[in-house]
Amino acid sequence: MQLSPYSGAYLSDPASAWRRILDDPDRALYAEDLGLWLISRHADVRRALADAATFGNALTLAPVYAVCPEAMSVIMQIDAPPTTAATDPPVHPRTRRALRATFANTADRAEAEYGRIVRRRVDELVSRLVAQRGERVDLVSGFTTELPLLVILDILGVPDADVDRIRRWADGQVALIWGQPDPDEQVRLARGLLEFWRYCQDLVRQRLDSGVNGTDFVSRALTYRDDDDDVLTVPEVASLAFNLLVAGHETTAGLLAHALDAALSSPHRWQALVADPRSVPGFVAETLRFAPAIDGWLRVTRRDVTLGEVTIPAGARCLLMIGAANRDPSVFAHPDRFDEHRIDAADHLSFGHGPHFCIGAALARLEAGIALTQLAEAIPGLQLAPEHRRSFKPNVSFRAHDSLLATIDVRTPADAPQVSQPAPAEAQAA
Ligand code: HEM
Repeated sequence: MQLSPYSGAYLSDPASAWRRILDDPDRALYAEDLGLWLISRHADVRRALADAATFGNALTLAPVYAVCPEAMSVIMQIDAPPTTAATDPPVHPRTRRALRATFANTADRAEAEYGRIVRRRVDELVSRLVAQRGERVDLVSGFTTELPLLVILDILGVPDADVDRIRRWADGQVALIWGQPDPDEQVRLARGLLEFWRYCQDLVRQRLDSGVNGTDFVSRALTYRDDDDDVLTVPEVASLAFNLLVAGHETTAGLLAHALDAALSSPHRWQALVADPRSVPGFVAETLRFAPAIDGWLRVTRRDVTLGEVTIPAGARCLLMIGAANRDPSVFAHPDRFDEHRIDAADHLSFGHGPHFCIGAALARLEAGIALTQLAEAIPGLQLAPEHRRSFKPNVSFRAHDSLLATIDVRTPADAPQVSQPAPAEAQAA
């Protein structure tokens, strides 16, 4: 079969493709256009995510297409040691332990360590939007991609002045690995990635030179290693920063945009959030299920694997279709309906499962919770602009909105004139 993730139906309406794939009697389908095996059922995706002995991570961050030789020669200069998402035992348990010790990965720790940072950044961005009252804004460039980036820079102790280049490098990495850049673009993006890696090495070197005494992530990781390479090496600290600067914002940006899309494309949902902020956590959970920011994640088989009638050979790359698994009717009733009141939304696989479960899940939920609550309070009349058309960046893993055009109206809707809305989210794409 052909998945064609970069164009046409899958790009504009992935949920229809997920439904077809889930309905297929075969539990694994080979996508010839990508050279990837597609695994879609909830139970299979969940098992594969957890079974590191069978589904390895060695190629999780390797491009999904044959990179041109010139770009490959640049990529080969990036000597970042694999740390978390791209490692298997014995490296992964060690680097994962380091991350758990230095990065707040539970709800309580995230609130205690990052709550202040998140609130300050949300306040800044919401105030900026409120100042644009009456105007058309793009919530993607003006809010959803900004907030997680600024927060992760604060956590890592990176100056605001570097925001633009880090955004460019991180966007470039997502396009280089999971997109479909032409050869010239591959070379440009690969050069950017090399610069990004050198930047992370410099960041760590500066901390070492100035004495490690800060509370930022890099200082904490260096303190944790305590000059012991068996615990964590200096290049591994730089590599963790390299990963977090991408994983920490490209994903949460997607969650925020999907949540605002779901809320604003059915105005009663936005009004429910305005009326009752306690409904925000349930809304975020259903957004994660319905429209995951990462809707496919890569593994490679370490032996032959038989799923039903199909055998996937050893060494095959597999796309674990998180978006499809989250719509599996054997787990979720009326799976294609966005239902912020469903009680089983938390069974989604959007943060993965098992040993590689997302280390930033608590931070992502914290950011989304504070952001939606503050936006609803400050801009109760927020609306999608009538001319807004939903579209996504071409990518096989990260589902990111191109834009979310909206009108800033700080009045409550009872006082504001009614305008027609774009179609509800579930009638179109995920
Ligand atoms: C809505 C936001 C997010 C989503 C949807 C998301 C999704 C994921 C997924 C699907 C995985 C792979 C899990 C697996 O293989 O089982 C993952 C891993 C990871 N995520 Fe997230 N993520 C989000 C936010 C974050 C944030 C905010 C951070 C850090 C600041 C982060 C850091 C990581 C790291 C370091 C890993 C690798 C963990 C490991 O391999 O042990 N993520 N994430």
